[in-house]
Amino acid sequence: MLDVNDYIEKLKEWLNDFEEQLHQSDGLSENFVDEVKGLQNKLSREEDHGKLGKIQYEAEQLYDRYINSRAVESRNENDGESKRVAIGEHTLPRLNYQYHDLEPYIARRIMELHHKKHHQSYVDGLNKAEKELQRQRERNHFELVKHWERELAFHGAGHYLHTLFWKVMTPKGGGQPNGALLKQFVLDFGSFEAFKAHFSEAAKNVEGSGWAILVWSPRPGRLEVLTAEKHQNLTQWDVIPLLPLDVWEHAYYLQYENKREDYISNWWKVINWPYVQQRFNEVRNNVSIV
Ligand SMILES: [Fe+2]
Repeated sequence: MLDVNDYIEKLKEWLNDFEEQLHQSDGLSENFVDEVKGLQNKLSREEDHGKLGKIQYEAEQLYDRYINSRAVESRNENDGESKRVAIGEHTLPRLNYQYHDLEPYIARRIMELHHKKHHQSYVDGLNKAEKELQRQRERNHFELVKHWERELAFHGAGHYLHTLFWKVMTPKGGGQPNGALLKQFVLDFGSFEAFKAHFSEAAKNVEGSGWAILVWSPRPGRLEVLTAEKHQNLTQWDVIPLLPLDVWEHAYYLQYENKREDYISNWWKVINWPYVQQRFNEVRNNVSIV
């Protein structure tokens, strides 16, 4: 258990991080900074220590309003391109519950470190990779592009999977699903229990660090269990492929031998853009992220 002073320190630290974040963002209303300062003042007044829960609640509400205002700003800026996150502008999502709420199943300290430190480092790494690649496009000079593509995949996969991971958990969780999802489990796995056994076994057998993931596979129209060892090797997840280019040797070697570059430059001459465009429109309009 944290004692009161530790708790105050943590809250102070969190408010300082928030204030720092506010100062780093462009064109943001001064009101948020003032409100954070108000909470910092409350926290430093001895007589308010009995109201720490309330201060924490107010801080969380404020953070929610800030995140929502960012989303609105981003929507307005992009004239209808809803929810577009600008390059290098990903932020750490807030949890819908507190760090200790998943106890005794997941300890508060794990949740705090996992969210505040590990997830934040994915967000930072993703922003850095995106900005670096943007800089390289602007200069039309691609230095260490292999490294930056890996960074983009590693941190992007980390950010998107963790964002989902926090959402698929809740203090009042457990049990089993019902409705359409339950029916689909029965169709694709035989029963919910069979899915659960398959998923648990797959998760147990992931070597080292990685994930077990229930996915919807739209082409066969089925649920599937996949594992992602070293998630960066399997791209960002959470994305939808639009334009794949096969650069395995079998795709070009017979004709181009080791001149992969020539194959790539000629490949642009056979692209079916109307199909890619149709696919883009379909997924952009029909896939929404909850
Ligand atoms: Fe993690």
